[in-house]
Amino acid sequence: MVSLGNIPPTIWWEDGTVRMIDQSRLPLVGDLLVCNTYEGVCTAISGMAVRGAPALGVAAALGVALWSETDGVDIAELDTYLSELDRVADEIASTRPTAVNLMWGAERMKRFARANAGAGLDALRPLVLAEALRVRDEDEERNRAMGEHGATLFEPGSRILTHCNAGSLATAYFGTALGVIFTAHAQGKVAQVWVDETRPVLQGARLTAWELRMAGVPFKLITDNMAASVMRRGLVDAVIVGADRIAANGDVANKIGTYGLAVLCKEHGIPFYVAAPSSTVDLTLASGDEIVIEERDEREVTGVTASGVIEPRTPEETRAFDMLTQSGTYALGMTKGHQMQLTRKGGAYQFDAWLRIAPPGIEVYNPAFDVTPAEYVTAIVTERGIARAPYGESLAEACCDTGALHELG
Ligand code: MRU
Repeated sequence: MVSLGNIPPTIWWEDGTVRMIDQSRLPLVGDLLVCNTYEGVCTAISGMAVRGAPALGVAAALGVALWSETDGVDIAELDTYLSELDRVADEIASTRPTAVNLMWGAERMKRFARANAGAGLDALRPLVLAEALRVRDEDEERNRAMGEHGATLFEPGSRILTHCNAGSLATAYFGTALGVIFTAHAQGKVAQVWVDETRPVLQGARLTAWELRMAGVPFKLITDNMAASVMRRGLVDAVIVGADRIAANGDVANKIGTYGLAVLCKEHGIPFYVAAPSSTVDLTLASGDEIVIEERDEREVTGVTASGVIEPRTPEETRAFDMLTQSGTYALGMTKGHQMQLTRKGGAYQFDAWLRIAPPGIEVYNPAFDVTPAEYVTAIVTERGIARAPYGESLAEACCDTGALHELG
């Protein structure tokens, strides 16, 4: 089995809570986030503490189970429990619009609860929790299967470029596109990975670089605008990315910047691969034109965020930070809209900053995803194998019997 070194699990169930690594602060601060309520899971999703399409599917399932084990315990009527579960699942599913796995995870829990309602309410609650844990376990199994299929696409010595983070952190464990790279690396096929930093949220620089280093895979970090140049210089043999939603015709929604890479691949004769579990395929959408693209806060574009730990160098500094953070957190007064908050954590002090890089008062457009038309996609790797054009047929085949035929309406 391919080992990922010390990469921790992304999201899990423990002591009646949903726990996750807070990805909004990684890699410089590795906070554990404990969600005691489903509303906490919703906040974690919209604040990107948990992100990446398959991980969002798992978060949705665990969030529903968390509701069932907390608020849901007080409900005595089966019908009320089922309608409330539907409402909670829909609320979780509405936290982000593009990654279909989020809706898929919520929908799977709704269907499961209704299909097993005959067991009676007392028996149903533990079944709902067990189903959510199954969603988590199946995700890792699918990713490992995808890794094995996808690795067959690469020759020894491959230099592979990837965008955003489609790694272990974007899933329950192991990753999709990065899972393929991990597997190919274990088979001795990867000479080097090119990691796009992936503005504006920098999932490549922060998360993919962190994972590859932990797993011991050689890589170089580049800014997004360097990809064309490294391709033209003949330094890239293939590109592989994940996906947030794949339409029935093979159009792929993924992190903003993916489409540009696919166009570059076509120009330079480089294969462009997508790796995604069948839960990312949305056969209800004829084409990518129907995919809703999330637009996010302008502050992701007009500034950068950074977190870290402050180490006082003198007793005076320690006293100063102690005073500032005596009530827990302290927001520094800063000009130009920069923001910095200090938080006391045990004997240490953490800073969370947003630093403005663009002038205030400007207009910003911040779509989080783009759509790559199927004609640019060389192959799509799923847990069932490798799908190629025409995707209308191959994707339907890849999804049959996997529960991925989404009829969300
Ligand atoms: O905004 P994010 O970080 O949730 O976007 C993530 C991506 O675009 C990933 O490439 C995609 O979800 C695939 S993850 C296996």
